[in-house]
Amino acid sequence: MKGIILAGGTATRLFPLTTTTSKQLLPIYDRQMIFYPLNVLIKAGIKEILIIVSPEHSGQFLNLLGSLFEKYGINIEFKVQPIPRGLADAFIVGEKFIGMDNVTMILGDNIFEDDFSDDISGFKSGAKVFAVKVPDPERSGVIVFDNNMRAIKIVEKPKDWISDYIIPGLYIYDNRVCNIAKTVKPSDRSELEIVDLHNWYLKRGELEVGMVKGAWLDAGTFDSLLEANIIVKEKNIYKHFDPLVDEAIKEFNIQLKELAKKRLS
Ligand code: DAU
Repeated sequence: MKGIILAGGTATRLFPLTTTTSKQLLPIYDRQMIFYPLNVLIKAGIKEILIIVSPEHSGQFLNLLGSLFEKYGINIEFKVQPIPRGLADAFIVGEKFIGMDNVTMILGDNIFEDDFSDDISGFKSGAKVFAVKVPDPERSGVIVFDNNMRAIKIVEKPKDWISDYIIPGLYIYDNRVCNIAKTVKPSDRSELEIVDLHNWYLKRGELEVGMVKGAWLDAGTFDSLLEANIIVKEKNIYKHFDPLVDEAIKEFNIQLKELAKKRLS
């Protein structure tokens, strides 16, 4: 299983914060946002991770994460997405990295309280996504269930209400996803939509849908960014990181302090 973190895009909803850095490098309590999705993948035992970034901020990602996990046997690669063509583009940009493997993709601005290790390590084939009930489904990819909670339809940001359940940004696909992504046509908003990939599997009866437990946050607006900070602190989400990730961050902080001391002396 390979892992991808999609951390590009222009984040215009967070201007002017995102004119000087990437959204996924903004702080969520005591660490950069990107550590939250990274933690989900590392916790699940994924050792090869591709971070897809925008050209403007690639250097900042490299400075932070370029060698942070090297000594733990976790290989982090970077790839620039020149134009934010949509979420499904990740599987075109990342095709070579994915190779012949299955892949879990997580969005760089999604924060989960839940642990998906079993879903990721137990994945065999098809696709697996998750659903969560929200008060504002029109902001996301919405999923409609029948009376037996079987998925029947998935629509990206529908104008009219169709369901309270949405699909947050954690997706597990088998290797076919790279070829399927190449067949996706741009939507009315000119994006290669991730829901087209879900629907491909749904139509063939190969889409499994799990339920998200605990908090889920998409830190893409000022309000949701603030809410993410508060909830991460209140629910102690930052305290439940994989020990390996915690150790790497701690060690990095020590190195930074030593470097700062050397500069002063
Ligand atoms: O947060 C969950 C939702 O994320 C899903 O329910 C939707 O189906 C999905 O389309 C997506 O909707 P958003 O409107 O939240 O997507 P956004 O444009 O904010 O992009 C999500 C992340 O992916 C963000 O970290 C930026 C990054 N991104 C986005 C695009 C379009 C890229 O790196 N490249 C891109 O081309």
